[in-house]
Amino acid sequence: MYFDPVPKTRREDLFGREDELRQFQRVLQYTPLIIITGLRRTGKTSFLNVALAESGAPHIRVDLRGLPVNPSRKQIIQKLQKAFNSVQGKWKSRIQRALEKVRGVKVLGAEISLAWEKDQLDLVDLFERIDAWTGKQNSRFIVAFDEFQHIRGDRNVIRILAYIMDNLQHIAVVVTGSEVGLLYDFLKLDSPGSVLYGRHHTEIRMRRFTSDEANEFLRKGFEQVGIQVSEDTLTYAVDKLDGIVGWLTEFGAHCRDCGRANQVVVDETMDLAGRQARDEITRLVAHSKRYGVILNYLANVGTASWSQLKRVLEAHEGRQLPSYVINEVLKRLTKMSIIGHTNNQYQIMDPLLRHGIFREPLPQ
Ligand SMILES: Nc1ncnc2c1ncn2[C@@H]1O[C@H](COP(=O)(O)OP(=O)(O)OP(=O)(O)O)[C@@H](O)[C@H]1O
Ligand SMILES: [Mg+2]
Repeated sequence: MYFDPVPKTRREDLFGREDELRQFQRVLQYTPLIIITGLRRTGKTSFLNVALAESGAPHIRVDLRGLPVNPSRKQIIQKLQKAFNSVQGKWKSRIQRALEKVRGVKVLGAEISLAWEKDQLDLVDLFERIDAWTGKQNSRFIVAFDEFQHIRGDRNVIRILAYIMDNLQHIAVVVTGSEVGLLYDFLKLDSPGSVLYGRHHTEIRMRRFTSDEANEFLRKGFEQVGIQVSEDTLTYAVDKLDGIVGWLTEFGAHCRDCGRANQVVVDETMDLAGRQARDEITRLVAHSKRYGVILNYLANVGTASWSQLKRVLEAHEGRQLPSYVINEVLKRLTKMSIIGHTNNQYQIMDPLLRHGIFREPLPQ
């Protein structure tokens, strides 16, 4: 069902990602690294879930959400442990057998326990065993990290990744990220001298749906839950919610809860989802009041040029600011995928985030 608000896990519930699924399956045969990018709520986790399930390959999915800005090794290992313990039934005991000889790994009944300390658990050894085991199955093991940029404080992770990509042919790494610039900064694929420099990788982007696709998604979704919807409501919803599948789903889920679909429910969804989107970025933008100033302004006016934004910041601070200050603020917001620009016109990427900030400005 399309309007189920949790991340999808089954292909029949995933709308409109056939090309991307085919691409995933094709490149999985040879690429060492697949990068899944997209704004918040564009369906990265859903796509990853379905792509992993459809691949038929043994895999783990490490969910890195909820970690603090600079997570400790212990917190990262705990996430890894959780991922190993959530492996599909048919692979679980075989993986456990492959890993039980690794130093720092204990198999206790049906559960794997990983030691936290660096000198206790050798992660390279762990992945080597997995590689050797998968090689015998004539398959590839997929190690997927959801929201990978969350662990960017730990460069050691990148070294392990480089080792896997260079030496372990039977392991494919998949990462997702909504803060796309930060994700690429962490991977440093384009920086000479970095361990991952120049490595082959494939990016799969979770694009927004076109108006026609969004319309079809809603129409089919309403059919599935047996709710009548008018053309006007569909057009209004597509216009307001844009092609972001998470917001469309949230609208559908609201309609399902209240048993009707009309423009009032679209407006309510915008308010709720807008607040949610605003709350999610509040932590990201908390460490500089300048982010608040820029975003509040953009939420009001829609789009603005670099010089306009410079003037706004200067007016707020009551002094002239050097260009690099403005550049730095705009660069950070862009790297977090909060704003984007074309032809020197900056705007907030997600219309509902804009709505949320418009209704309740950020601290500045
Ligand atoms: N292709 C799709 N078809 C149907 N529903 C989808 C699709 N993609 C995502 N959804 C729905 O949209 C919502 C957001 O999806 P999901 O959590 O997968 O996105 P995300 O990009 O991982 O979001 P976040 O940035 O919050 O991690 C969920 O309710 C999910 O069920
Ligand atoms: Mg997600």
